[in-house]
Amino acid sequence: MKIAVIGTGYVGLVQGTCLAESGNDVVCIDKVAAKIEGLKHGKIPIYEPGLSELVHRNQRDGRLAFTTDLARGMEEAEIVFIAVGTPQGDDGGADLSGIWAVGRQVAEVLRSPKIIVIKSTVPVGTNAELARGMADATKVAFDVASNPEFLKEGAAIEDFNKPDRIVVGARKPAVAERLHALYAPFLRTDRPFLVMSPESAEMTKYVANCLLATKISFINEMANLCEVYGADINDVRRGIGHDQRIGFHFLHPGVGYGGSCFPKDVRAVIHMAQSRGLPARMMAAVDEVNEAQKNVLFQKIETHFSGSLRDRTIAIWGLAFKPRTDDIREAPAMVLINSLLEAGADLRVHDPEALANVRAIYGERLTYCDRPYGALEQADALVIATEWNEFRNPDFEIMIRLLRQPVIFDGRNVFDLARMTALGFTYHGMGRAAVDSGSAPKRQ
Ligand SMILES: NC(=O)c1ccc[n+]([C@@H]2O[C@H](COP(=O)([O-])OP(=O)(O)OC[C@H]3O[C@@H](n4cnc5c(N)ncnc54)[C@H](O)[C@@H]3O)[C@@H](O)[C@H]2O)c1
Repeated sequence: MKIAVIGTGYVGLVQGTCLAESGNDVVCIDKVAAKIEGLKHGKIPIYEPGLSELVHRNQRDGRLAFTTDLARGMEEAEIVFIAVGTPQGDDGGADLSGIWAVGRQVAEVLRSPKIIVIKSTVPVGTNAELARGMADATKVAFDVASNPEFLKEGAAIEDFNKPDRIVVGARKPAVAERLHALYAPFLRTDRPFLVMSPESAEMTKYVANCLLATKISFINEMANLCEVYGADINDVRRGIGHDQRIGFHFLHPGVGYGGSCFPKDVRAVIHMAQSRGLPARMMAAVDEVNEAQKNVLFQKIETHFSGSLRDRTIAIWGLAFKPRTDDIREAPAMVLINSLLEAGADLRVHDPEALANVRAIYGERLTYCDRPYGALEQADALVIATEWNEFRNPDFEIMIRLLRQPVIFDGRNVFDLARMTALGFTYHGMGRAAVDSGSAPKRQ
């Protein structure tokens, strides 16, 4: 099939590339000329495991092209995906200006019937409103369908190729059938292709993200409780997870959720409820717990150093909002960095992929280290904010040698509490009673 994807970001680039890989002719469109120029020359604007090989291969084989020219890019397409950003607006709701702008542009240049599919996460009613707006602006026939995206950054290619399910919101069976044909290569092992109304499809995406965010805030609140009562959240997790009604997934305590989806989607649902006069008490609590959780690690660090971080050097491992991505949007590590800088600490930071994005924000205010051990040199403590695999089994002897004091604040419970204590570290995890050999001595 001939496909166009408008918006070549984390979602659009993966979508376009994976569809090209299954034999379709795909044009990815973006308004940012530098991004498109780079892609034309094989420069991948984001880090996503496995993506660059796929882009290069499909580009070379002529199935994947990039352009800023929306009219030409979608000219021959039968299906046009919209994957532009829908960030949080000033009122907490989703900012749909990107969707409306694309709708206007598409209607203006529409010359033949097409299926327009909204991939972006949008509030209930957006598909219907887009269809109405476009119908006022063009005489050419078109359909609008919803097809929310569920991929996880860091595992996006795998998620796209083996989706748990594909959700399509379409009023006409013929539209759903065309989308089924497009996705058939990814549905081979009887993966569900679920057709529903556009409203239900739009809502499905928000409900999924809200439930996942709820699990995270729930376990974080329980972890904090464990800590003050001397229980260990890891044991508690095992104790509850074997109950099949509960399970283990998404119940890891940490420094709060971040990224470009959960925070804004939870707030968009609060806004959706409030605009219809309904309370959204659960989601408001989930958001509140998460905001507080982003400060927990800083409070532990401040307490350990007796309230004074001026001229202390803190090493941070992991800056992206989660491992295997370079995405730092709403990353909890950014909140931690801001608090530590404000308290007067010097920071030596390391992340396998996100350093360039962090440097673009903080410039010379941080010391950027290409290697994890480099960040530890002359540091008073190490903080782990993101659980990259390469942090899981480091050489602890080297770490003890490099750190000025063997103190670790492990925001992701990467290490084993008993082992770290035996090795001589003062180790603070999440939801596990801290083993602290005492507050750090004051600097002379
Ligand atoms: N990132 C994820 O993991 C993820 C997962 C599921 C759903 N989503 C949803 O998918 C949507 C896109 O997210 P993303 O992370 O890919 O965003 P992104 O910011 O990475 O990419 C959006 C792209 O759209 C482009 N764009 C904006 N307006 C345009 C226009 N008028 N014409 C052409 N291009 C335009 C931008 O330049 C940018 O490259 C959002 O609604 C998001 O909530 C994201």
